[in-house]
Amino acid sequence: MSKIQNAKVDMYEALPVPFGLVRFGVAPDHPEVKNCQEKFEEVASSPNFTFIGNVSIGTKSDHPDGGTIPLASILRHYNAVLFSYGAAKDRTLGIPGEDLKGVYSAREFVGWYNGLPEHADLAPDLTQGEEAVIIGQGNVALDVARMLLEDVDVLRKSDIAEHAIETLSKSKVKRVHIVGRRGPMQSWSLDFLLSPTTFNTTSPSSHHLASTTFTRTTLSAPFDPKAYALPADPSEPPVTLPSQVAFRSIGYKSEPLPEFAPLGIPFNDRWGVISNDGRGRVQHEERGRDAAMQMGRFPGLYCAGWVKRGPTGVIASTMEDGFATADAMAEDWGNKGVEFLNGEASGDLGGWEAVKRENGLEVGGEKGARVVDWAGWRRIDGAERERGRKVGKEREKFTRTADMLAVVG
Ligand SMILES: Cc1cc2nc3c(=O)[nH]c(=O)nc-3n(C[C@H](O)[C@H](O)[C@H](O)COP(=O)(O)OP(=O)(O)OC[C@H]3O[C@@H](n4cnc5c(N)ncnc54)[C@H](O)[C@@H]3O)c2cc1C
Ligand SMILES: NC(=O)c1ccc[n+]([C@@H]2O[C@H](COP(=O)([O-])OP(=O)(O)OC[C@H]3O[C@@H](n4cnc5c(N)ncnc54)[C@H](OP(=O)(O)O)[C@@H]3O)[C@@H](O)[C@H]2O)c1
Repeated sequence: MSKIQNAKVDMYEALPVPFGLVRFGVAPDHPEVKNCQEKFEEVASSPNFTFIGNVSIGTKSDHPDGGTIPLASILRHYNAVLFSYGAAKDRTLGIPGEDLKGVYSAREFVGWYNGLPEHADLAPDLTQGEEAVIIGQGNVALDVARMLLEDVDVLRKSDIAEHAIETLSKSKVKRVHIVGRRGPMQSWSLDFLLSPTTFNTTSPSSHHLASTTFTRTTLSAPFDPKAYALPADPSEPPVTLPSQVAFRSIGYKSEPLPEFAPLGIPFNDRWGVISNDGRGRVQHEERGRDAAMQMGRFPGLYCAGWVKRGPTGVIASTMEDGFATADAMAEDWGNKGVEFLNGEASGDLGGWEAVKRENGLEVGGEKGARVVDWAGWRRIDGAERERGRKVGKEREKFTRTADMLAVVG
């Protein structure tokens, strides 16, 4: 990976804590978490790196003590901006009954057991019966199934949130159907070739899930791993699985930041990605000299991770993808005459200091937001490890932003 000599990197993070899905998505008992956090620590130890936590860019922070900075303000004070804000939503099925009690988004459930403040109050009800349905057969579905079926005493030793241990220990769920619309050649699991059509109650006056109905599907080409699912012969009877709890686990979804449209930053809604050249350079359609439409580079804007290529890939592939974008940025930086934000690359714009002044975010500033720096995160980290030590775990996460900020002081 090439380097931009003496470049300063300011990283803005909406939460007071770093690591994104590595902290709030990856299952608590997976070893990747540790390796990834160690790599992050190494990068953060550079004197040219600044962590700016508890500050949301372009979207309102979801708690009163969080700072919000307009994207336009960021664009004024840097030569280059890289978007890697992941995928904060998930895909929906759009079928009847999706809002019944007992039907959950796997994304929210995963955030809940991993202590994400936004979903700390999810309180999934796992006491209504023994049957659970998970729709989708991706790795997230498998993580959810494992959490539902794992011995709670094994989970207790991981950094899973304490509220999740309490709920899972009272769970009545004994049987989990992981349902896919394609067959064993395209993935693997137990309930194949079924596509959900409705979530059902026992009676019209009930609002709680009782069963899930599926139609049968057939494959466009049975032995092709890329085959897609087609509706089967309509005379085939539907399949109904008893289910008192269901999880929709059909993939995450990125959204554009609200200022993208007014600032002319292109977002491909269909694929849920920032339009880019594949190496992370943000690009938009423009009319060429011959009047034909072609892709034009958006000076100084880059993207990486799930918001660059869609919500797929593991930590290793996401890191590779980040390196590729960094390489493209370094290549542009080294090329004389390439236009960046605010002119050619100079590296001497105001950066965080200017953004802070412009938005009243200095210590005691008018908006009083509590910006968390790397030392602040270290204090939260230390306090979480100490809480964990007392209950025999590596870490007991704070699940409320206010509690994290109380530690920072
Ligand atoms: C449930 C689940 C389990 C997984 N388990 C594994 C595993 O075991 N092993 C593995 O290798 N991979 C795993 N993955 C994949 C891995 O987590 C992803 O590949 C990787 O985290 C994607 O990185 P990202 O940077 O694109 O997004 P994220 O990790 O989501 O990071 C995005 C960051 O941007 C921040 N952000 C969002 N909006 C704003 C804003 N407006 N302003 C400021 N900050 C913002 C978020 O708070 C977050 O910190 C898992 C994924 C999921 C969903
Ligand atoms: N341990 C790990 O390494 C780990 C853990 C968790 C996540 N991850 C990674 O994170 C990424 C995201 O995982 P994910 O599980 O959210 O997504 P995913 O891998 O894309 O899986 C989504 C699943 O939902 C199904 N689906 C989509 N739309 C559907 C619909 N309308 N009706 C029925 N089923 C539908 C898909 O079926 P089709 O195939 O038929 O479209 C697929 O089975 C993946 O790359 C994954 O590998 C890794």
